Amino acid sequence: MQIGVPRETTPGERRVALVPDTVARLVKSGVSVAVEAGAGRGAYHGDDAYQTAGATVARDATALYAGSDVVLKIHRPSHDAELDEVGMLREGSVLVAMLYPLIHLDLVRRLADCRITAFALDAVPRISRAQPLDALSAMSTVTGYHAVLSAAAALPKFFPLLMTAAGTLTPARVLILGAGVAGLQAIATARRLGAVVEAFDARAVVKEQVQSLGATFVEVAAESAEGAGGYAKAQSEDAQKRTLEVLALRSREADVIITTALVPGMRAPRLITAEMVQAMRPGSVIVDLAGEQGGNCELSEPGTTVVRHEVTIMAPLNGASAIPVHASQMYSRNVSSFLQLIVKDGVLALNFEDEIVRESCVTHEGRIVHERARAAVESTTVGAT
Ligand code: NAI
Repeated sequence: MQIGVPRETTPGERRVALVPDTVARLVKSGVSVAVEAGAGRGAYHGDDAYQTAGATVARDATALYAGSDVVLKIHRPSHDAELDEVGMLREGSVLVAMLYPLIHLDLVRRLADCRITAFALDAVPRISRAQPLDALSAMSTVTGYHAVLSAAAALPKFFPLLMTAAGTLTPARVLILGAGVAGLQAIATARRLGAVVEAFDARAVVKEQVQSLGATFVEVAAESAEGAGGYAKAQSEDAQKRTLEVLALRSREADVIITTALVPGMRAPRLITAEMVQAMRPGSVIVDLAGEQGGNCELSEPGTTVVRHEVTIMAPLNGASAIPVHASQMYSRNVSSFLQLIVKDGVLALNFEDEIVRESCVTHEGRIVHERARAAVESTTVGAT
């Protein structure tokens, strides 16, 4: 059985799905691994390092896909006239990637039509047993950290309190919105840089975690938006109104705002309005990590950096790629942990009794098996007729 790792084709992407260390472990376990030439270059892993680890190097994507039973990717495969990676997958082969099946319905349909068994790493249930393969958390750790560094670089001030012969410089004030995995990492990083940090989350249960990292929890007198599986649900209208009132006051005091607030399956909540941006001090910085889901800030433009009312607003879409060595190392560990669930003794062994395998499987044997994706595809098909 051959596991294939193509070069990522998303513009600007520097990560690779498997690093040589993991390849060596997989080869030792009895599978063969092929890597497309140049696949690891962005993360500083040359073809020779993969060969030393026991992989073969395929000269191009066509050769790689044609020979692979299981393809490991980070981004979902493209399927357009310019580049049709889905079309390159062998019928009946397995694909493991971040697929976001509830958003990319055309892709889901196409994967089913091509009879690909597709697993979405982003759909793995967040149970304790699944922690080693939780790529969402791993990549959020990277983006939360990197957002703070980007903000610090763009801010025309120091982050820490500095007592110098030229006078005392006050520390930067950082406001973090959403204290999930990315938000908590952003808090920790901003604190390490010496900023004064406060954070808000619609789920009141995270207050202790925020405080344990040395930040102040911003209190809003509204019910907690605790949803299923540790995620948030949408806030009630009243809670939203109260939140915006409090954030209007807190954002005025902030030099930096980092927003990470998401609600699964929904547009990102709007937490920073245009008026709030206008009321911030000139030179302040906002990093909006919710760009993929529409953004938390009314003025952010996903995928780019804009300056509005003298406030720099960044909305990076591929932040994890900015730290490609460690991001690849983490993803590689996640995806190889997933492989352990579907490959036994060097052969593919799909056990749909396992809730991780079942819930992350999107398409199999020509059918859409992910219930919510199937419902979404069916509703758009009905709407289209
Ligand atoms: P996420 O990326 O979906 O959302 C980020 C944060 O935004 C969440 O903390 C959410 O409460 C917050 N948020 C949503 N609406 C908001 C609003 N209107 N205002 C302010 N904040 C808002 O979540 P993420 O980071 O992927 O994880 C969230 C939780 O999932 C974790 O805190 C944890 O409880 C659970 N989790 C469990 C894992 C496990 O057991 N294996 C692994 C990772 C996370």
